[in-house]
Amino acid sequence: MSQNPSPALEELSIYDLSIPGRRASTTPALEAGLPSADDVLPAWALREESPHLPEVSELDMVRHYTNLSRKNWSIEVGAYPLGSCTMKYNPKIHEQTAALTGFSRLHPWQPAEHAQGALALIYEMEQLLVEITGMARATFQPAAGAAGELTGLLVMRAYHESQGSPRDTVLIPDSAHGTNPATVRLAGYKVEQIPTDSRGLVDIDTVRNAMSENVAGLMLTNPNTLGLFEQEIEEIAKAVHSKGGLLYYDGANLNAIVGIIRPGDMGFDVVHINMHKTFTTPHGGGGPGSGPVAVSSRLEPFLPTPIPGFDQATGKYFWEEDRPYSIGRVHGFYGNFGMVVRAYTYLISLGADGLHNLSERAVLNANYLRSRLEGTYQTAHPGLCMHEFVLTAKKFRREYGVRAMDIAKRLIDKGFHPPTVYFPLVVEEALMIEPTETESKQTLDALADAFLEIAAEAVDNPDLLHDAPVRSPVGRLDEARAVRQLQTRWRPAETAG
Ligand SMILES: Cc1ncc(COP(=O)(O)O)c(C=O)c1O
Repeated sequence: MSQNPSPALEELSIYDLSIPGRRASTTPALEAGLPSADDVLPAWALREESPHLPEVSELDMVRHYTNLSRKNWSIEVGAYPLGSCTMKYNPKIHEQTAALTGFSRLHPWQPAEHAQGALALIYEMEQLLVEITGMARATFQPAAGAAGELTGLLVMRAYHESQGSPRDTVLIPDSAHGTNPATVRLAGYKVEQIPTDSRGLVDIDTVRNAMSENVAGLMLTNPNTLGLFEQEIEEIAKAVHSKGGLLYYDGANLNAIVGIIRPGDMGFDVVHINMHKTFTTPHGGGGPGSGPVAVSSRLEPFLPTPIPGFDQATGKYFWEEDRPYSIGRVHGFYGNFGMVVRAYTYLISLGADGLHNLSERAVLNANYLRSRLEGTYQTAHPGLCMHEFVLTAKKFRREYGVRAMDIAKRLIDKGFHPPTVYFPLVVEEALMIEPTETESKQTLDALADAFLEIAAEAVDNPDLLHDAPVRSPVGRLDEARAVRQLQTRWRPAETAG
């Protein structure tokens, strides 16, 4: 891992580096006769005191902020195999298209006729998403995956109400992402958890037994959070539909199947997609991201308002506002439009074949890494995985007192971001790994080597792992305190709590 050459300097704030009179740039003195600020600005607009800015050279300033930025980890520093949270590279061309002034300078209050290009992009992106998911229509309002879930469930609720009963329960497998049960509660439903079987999959008989006319639907994540493809989806869809329920596809991880199969063809009624996981937009972390929702035709009337339209006669795009059955808005204006531009750029630059390849590559990369690690580490479930896989460190804990957290922290010392740990909850000492399709074989090999070195260290010198990380800006944090007492700004050493 790269070390800062002058760590002591980093303890200083930019003000500590200030030397009176030092400047980042100098400009020639005003030519005689030209007006100064004192001459052109009214007295009330002039400062009485200097603004107390740090006085530093340009080089000191650049080094200071560059060093600070290196205290953080990002996908541009190294691999980030964070299972389920998927950190993957965001191509720079996305930033360029999103920054085009025709997009970035648009004001959301501008009338539709002044924003035809942006509307055309949203309209076309919807067509692409509808084609990719096999659904009828989509909305881009939700700000991230969990916001997409809430939108999808509110749409389901509105549909059931239109049929005379909202019903009261939603089924969720025990391997689901934590946002699923939270969303169900927020949408006013009760959660009924259904256990996954020894294969790590949802069993059709469990669904049949749990389904009733009180159940609004089932939220299924596919591939599930164990990285496995659900095997009885068509039967599950029939069981849910036969009782009047709806089938929700948590498509956060669509990068495992995109361009190959479509939720709509499998019998799903609603799907949300995490743009940051599938279409390489920056990670939302609850927003500002994008978690579009696509629905089948019977749910279309309930989608958030407005949705984009195209008038063949005039050749103009417009916003369709008058939608009496809509659940209303779930976001100000039209969602985080910049994310839609980025995802659109990605889709256009990949094309249909490229999309297919990305899924194959995501699955291949995960299986390559899995096959290099299994044998030394135990996998939670045997066999091939989809875009991610789960290891269990229970053998290391039993035999050497080394936990999943110790392995994850030691990975920081080896120059990699740790994987997700202790999730999914159904796996003891879980290490959940997603390399993503954007990493090369060389990087995957380096990551596998690091994991294997750590396994050897666990046997020879477990304390090395207990103390890790030792080469990062801060050592092992008290995890519970770190989330409760976030330190989000610099403080002088003596007052830092
Ligand atoms: C399977 C699954 N569903 C839902 C979500 C929630 O997405 P977000 O974090 O964008 O709200 C995630 C997040 O990683 C996920 O992995």
